[in-house]
Amino acid sequence: MTVISGAHELLDTEVYVDLRDLLGTPLYLKCEGFNFAGSVKMRPAVWMVAAAQRDGVLHAGSTLIESSSGNLGVALAVVAAAKGLRFVCVTDPKCNPSTARLIRALGAEVITVDEPDAEGSYLAARKEYVRRKCAEDPSYVWLNQYENPANWISHYENTAAHIAKRFPALDTLFIGTGTGGTLMGCARYFREHRPAVRIIGVDTEGSVNFSGTPGPRHIPGLGASTLMPLIDEALLDEVVRVPETEAVGMCRRLASKGLLFGGSTGTVVSAAARWLGGRGLGPSHIAVAIAPDLGERYIDSIYHDAWVAEHYGRAPLELLEQL
Ligand SMILES: Cc1ncc(COP(=O)(O)O)c(C=O)c1O
Repeated sequence: MTVISGAHELLDTEVYVDLRDLLGTPLYLKCEGFNFAGSVKMRPAVWMVAAAQRDGVLHAGSTLIESSSGNLGVALAVVAAAKGLRFVCVTDPKCNPSTARLIRALGAEVITVDEPDAEGSYLAARKEYVRRKCAEDPSYVWLNQYENPANWISHYENTAAHIAKRFPALDTLFIGTGTGGTLMGCARYFREHRPAVRIIGVDTEGSVNFSGTPGPRHIPGLGASTLMPLIDEALLDEVVRVPETEAVGMCRRLASKGLLFGGSTGTVVSAAARWLGGRGLGPSHIAVAIAPDLGERYIDSIYHDAWVAEHYGRAPLELLEQL
């Protein structure tokens, strides 16, 4: 039995789905959606707030402010509510409207920055707004998930340590990349403690992480349009890039078995299936992939045929009919 006295205390729920029947190759999917924020971002939210409190930057009269288009915003709203702090989430028109409602339901304020910067980047415009607010009012505290070491440290100390404990014979770990917090925390942990474990970074096509070519992307969470400062590619064994259409197909395959996951899970599982399948590794090969969130937040996008047709054309839907 797990008993908690604050929403932010539920972190690693230790749920893994064995996907060998679905994929024809063993893969343990670590599910990060079973906490009060519904995603892997609960850990960085808890760690970054704790670090700011420890450093004396964040106190009772402070207002947290952060740029997020989704899951970190929800996680910080949970942590802020649990700790009695004010929180302002700065987002843009690409943010899923139901995510914004979720953040407001948790008592936080949502500010939408309507215009991208001169180069067309909403992320840059959001960061500029946050900088301006902090300059105008010193009670605002920006955690800056893109550069804050507590982001990756949360995964080093918690996510990676849990995986290492449960899988003493782990061979390969697949991790998606947004800010790079999950990937770098896990990569550093295994490089230091179990260097033989292969670390595979997963990115989405159209993202510039790992010197990819910029292109249109519609699934939130993974990928970036500017280089992410936390990422150190030298700590990885390989990078696998997955087109969004393939990620949607994998999400639908998982859902057909009752496993409703978010878009980045489809991306990571696709990458793992391709990588493991291509090597013909036997059943003794132990592989784990991290599933950052569940699928309810994507009901109107990747699980909605009209949305899929609008963003990728009819071809992926025709492929899905053959599933
Ligand atoms: C759904 C989802 N997947 C993956 C990620 C990537 O996590 P990270 O920022 O640790 O790279 C995020 C981050 O927000 C996310 O929301």
